[in-house]
Amino acid sequence: MKQLDIVLGLQWGDEGKGKIVDVLADNYPIIARFQGGPNAGHSIHFEGKKFVLRSIPSGIFRQNAVNLIGNGVVLDPVTFKEECEAIKAAGVPVEKRLLVSKKANLILPTHRLLDAAQEAAKGKSKIGSTLKGIGPTYTDKISRSGLRVGDILTENFKERYDALKNKHIAELKHLDFTFDLAENEKAWFDAIEYLKKMPLVDGEYFTNENLDNDNAILAEGAQGSMLDIDYGSYPFVTSSSTIGSGACIGLGIAPRRVGKVYGIFKAYCTRVGSGPFPTELFDATGEELRTKGYEFGAVTGRPRRTGWLDLVALKYAVMLSGVTNLIIMKADVMDSFDTVKVATGYKVNGKETKVVPFDPYAKVEPVYTEFPGWKDPLCDAKSEAELPVQFKNYIAFLEKELGVPISIISVGPDREQTIFR
Ligand code: GDP
Ligand code: IMO
Ligand code: MG
Repeated sequence: MKQLDIVLGLQWGDEGKGKIVDVLADNYPIIARFQGGPNAGHSIHFEGKKFVLRSIPSGIFRQNAVNLIGNGVVLDPVTFKEECEAIKAAGVPVEKRLLVSKKANLILPTHRLLDAAQEAAKGKSKIGSTLKGIGPTYTDKISRSGLRVGDILTENFKERYDALKNKHIAELKHLDFTFDLAENEKAWFDAIEYLKKMPLVDGEYFTNENLDNDNAILAEGAQGSMLDIDYGSYPFVTSSSTIGSGACIGLGIAPRRVGKVYGIFKAYCTRVGSGPFPTELFDATGEELRTKGYEFGAVTGRPRRTGWLDLVALKYAVMLSGVTNLIIMKADVMDSFDTVKVATGYKVNGKETKVVPFDPYAKVEPVYTEFPGWKDPLCDAKSEAELPVQFKNYIAFLEKELGVPISIISVGPDREQTIFR
């Protein structure tokens, strides 16, 4: 009996999950997304090509992998169709490698409008949502009025769609939000016809039967632990469970079947949107991280906020998901730095703590440990032996602090720029 292994982002998203899932996918017959939706943007580089995936799992480029969009995902048919067509144009037989769970909830055009209207109404306290309709769709799911992928096959689907749409229109009017729905609706129904031709499955039977039949599954997280609906910096979070246990819920797999939990982190931090970010840099170093790390949203193009690595937040994320293997990304971005800093504690109201504060508005001052930079390009290293000694010392410190081994070191965006330890 094989297990479910999980890949998770441990920070505020964009850690490099797409790259790592694509790399690991070679060893798994099944790759499954379990939550989130097109708010995600997962970049994959290989053979000189680059792709950005939104809802489709990052195993799609591997010949022998079957990719499942799981129950916990919220699916926008329009984005999904665009994504499928782009990958197909690159020669990938999408419909042969992709399954969609019937229990995944659908993002309606009015969910997107509601997202925009609700953000606008929040004014200064806005979340910085990607405005893809994620919050309103999960709201409808939890309040038991959502529509699911399997519903598109039922006779009264249009009736149910109209009822939900009309409820949304009333809310939009209440929020005094002007909109034009006609064109979006046409594209949405075209995309529904496209979706009908994809293999729609009972995801939870598919996953469990495969585990029983000795086919291992790799679950692909989206967003990051600090954006989790329960444990992130609420309310500046997304609307789904981004931590390890979310994979069980989102794929219908029991906790006892979980094997490895891969936790991915960048050697520094980034965040898009609003909310606390204790180690944020507003100086030339912050700008250097943004430029050298090309820290601009894969979905929205927004510049990402940047700062030093935060071990208080990282330890918290490791704890929440029971991470068994760490993966460090993008240390190459700091190749030229004289000094590399890591926050090992916080000062809140003058008191030192190692705990992430409850209050997202708490004034947090990071306590830093400094390391000499390695001043040597990492990007061509093919094995651990080729890594500079200062970098190895830095890695050893992180492992000791976090209490979990770093199993993979990524030294560039390409598939090949990956060192297994
Ligand atoms: P995801 O959402 O977690 O999949 O991450 P994104 O794709 O949004 O952002 C990660 C970015 O970093 C992408 O542009 C990747 O191509 C790039 N990337 C991934 N790993 C590395 C690395 O080790 N070094 C560098 N320089 N870039 C990387
Ligand atoms: P990947 O999978 C980075 C952030 C948004 C915003 C908050 C809520 O690529 O790592 P939402 O659209 O979910 O209502 O936005 O969460 N956010 C992400 N930030 N990477 C992501 O996904 C994100 N998905 C959502 O910027 O602050
Ligand atoms: Mg991303």
